[in-house]
Amino acid sequence: MAIVAPSLLAADFSALGEEVNRVRGAQILHIDIMDGNFVPNLSMGPQVMKSLRDKTDQVFDVHLMLLHPLSYIPIFRRAGGDWLTFHIECADDPRKVLAAIEESGAKPGLAIKPATPVEDLYPYCDNLHSVTVMTVEPGFGGQKLQRAPLEKIRELKKRFPRLLIKVDGGVNLDTAPLCRQAGADVLIAGTGVFRAENPARAMAMLQGD
Ligand code: DX5
Ligand code: ZN
Repeated sequence: MAIVAPSLLAADFSALGEEVNRVRGAQILHIDIMDGNFVPNLSMGPQVMKSLRDKTDQVFDVHLMLLHPLSYIPIFRRAGGDWLTFHIECADDPRKVLAAIEESGAKPGLAIKPATPVEDLYPYCDNLHSVTVMTVEPGFGGQKLQRAPLEKIRELKKRFPRLLIKVDGGVNLDTAPLCRQAGADVLIAGTGVFRAENPARAMAMLQGD
């Protein structure tokens, strides 16, 4: 069964503490970090994350959309990140970033943009806790899910059955069944959860309950 990780990017940033409370039923909270370089947008930094750390016991699944993630690994670990995911397309050596994540004590993950071949991930998969398959171009919430990357989930599940597979971008009531059928373990959803009147109900429906 898939579980839903609400993506804070779609929350009301003027009341983040209350927003986290609205999704307290979720085990995992997805936190998007952008640098204005790897993606053409900025979101929040370690200080915001740290101030939320005391408000919840949820797993912080940190999605680092950074051109140079390496030097930021200890910073986001100290800010409370439990799972640290960076992009295979970044400008640092993925092996070095993975080593830094291991050393920090966080769980390592790689994310992959829609146009990047899934094979690029294979050399690293045995050392990963999770892969985040992007079904939109990273950088913005509220986009439409691209179906082609769902094939990557099937491939990854076949080759690396123990790897946790997350899907990120455009997951809503219409597209969640496709993601679940493809074999995704975690459905990351921003708009689909935070813009719903009842986030708990939205999460249950996305999960397929
Ligand atoms: C996009 C982020 C996503 C985003 C998803 O770069 O990685 O996590 O918040 O938002 P929705 O669910 O609205 O597509
Ligand atoms: Zn994300």
